[in-house]
Amino acid sequence: MLEVQDLRVVFPNGVEALKSISISATKSEVIAIIGRSGAGKSTLLRAINGLQRPTSGTIKLDGEEITRMNDTQLRLARRYMGFIWQEYNLVERLPAITNVLTGRLGYNMGWQSWLGYFDKSHREIALQNLERVGLLHRANNRSDKLSGGEKQRVAIARAISQEPKIILADEPVASLDPELSVQVMEDLARVAREIGVLTLINIHQVELARRFCDRIIGIAQGKVEFDGSPDEMDDDVLDRIYRFDQPVKAKHEPAIADVV
Ligand SMILES: Nc1ncnc2c1ncn2[C@@H]1O[C@H](COP(=O)(O)OP(=O)(O)O)[C@@H](O)[C@H]1O
Ligand SMILES: [Mg+2]
Repeated sequence: MLEVQDLRVVFPNGVEALKSISISATKSEVIAIIGRSGAGKSTLLRAINGLQRPTSGTIKLDGEEITRMNDTQLRLARRYMGFIWQEYNLVERLPAITNVLTGRLGYNMGWQSWLGYFDKSHREIALQNLERVGLLHRANNRSDKLSGGEKQRVAIARAISQEPKIILADEPVASLDPELSVQVMEDLARVAREIGVLTLINIHQVELARRFCDRIIGIAQGKVEFDGSPDEMDDDVLDRIYRFDQPVKAKHEPAIADVV
């Protein structure tokens, strides 16, 4: 269970990225976070994983208060948070299976994993998870030989190999073409439901959010503007979330003759 209470993040340069965010989410929900660029979506995910310390407010994951943890505690807590980034963050020269195995690092004995040694039980979990995303046949392929969609599936397999309490995905399909975006979102939502893990997905394609997520949270200018089911998200709601996206028109448009 995730409880975010009155979260506020002000950057040193004075930008107030999050104003007073409160969100409560239970295990196994698949939630899309939508909003225009600069709305505060990434800052929210970074606050949840502890990379961004909030100015005020609290975040609790399964009763543990992330916002009170020191750096060591945060590092430990992050073992149980799966991340999926737009740019995959794989070790390109390593095979897919080894990238997935890095998701097991939190469970392995220290010196063994430094030597690249993972015992059979970890390898089995990693292979099972590659199979879940349809990539068992690519297990031994170097990651830089995989397509973008395959790379993101490896990242999904890596995240679930952590046996995470939460998965945080920041624009996971923003580097993929529309067709692959659909496939990867489908995989991510399906796998999240299969293992029953709370998943937050920052995404800017509203249609994909509607199609694959149970709940949508719309953020505008650092505030929750909408929190509901895809069915409840009508044009009015979208207008409220995206209205700040309209280019601000100059009050007095200059005539061409004034400019030349
Ligand atoms: N490290 C930072 N320092 C100052 N301002 C930042 C920093 N990171 C993000 N911002 C600002 O905070 C706001 C929210 O950013 P972000 O969370 O990245 O939005 P989104 O992910 O929705 O595009 C934006 O105005 C952005 O410019
Ligand atoms: Mg972002």
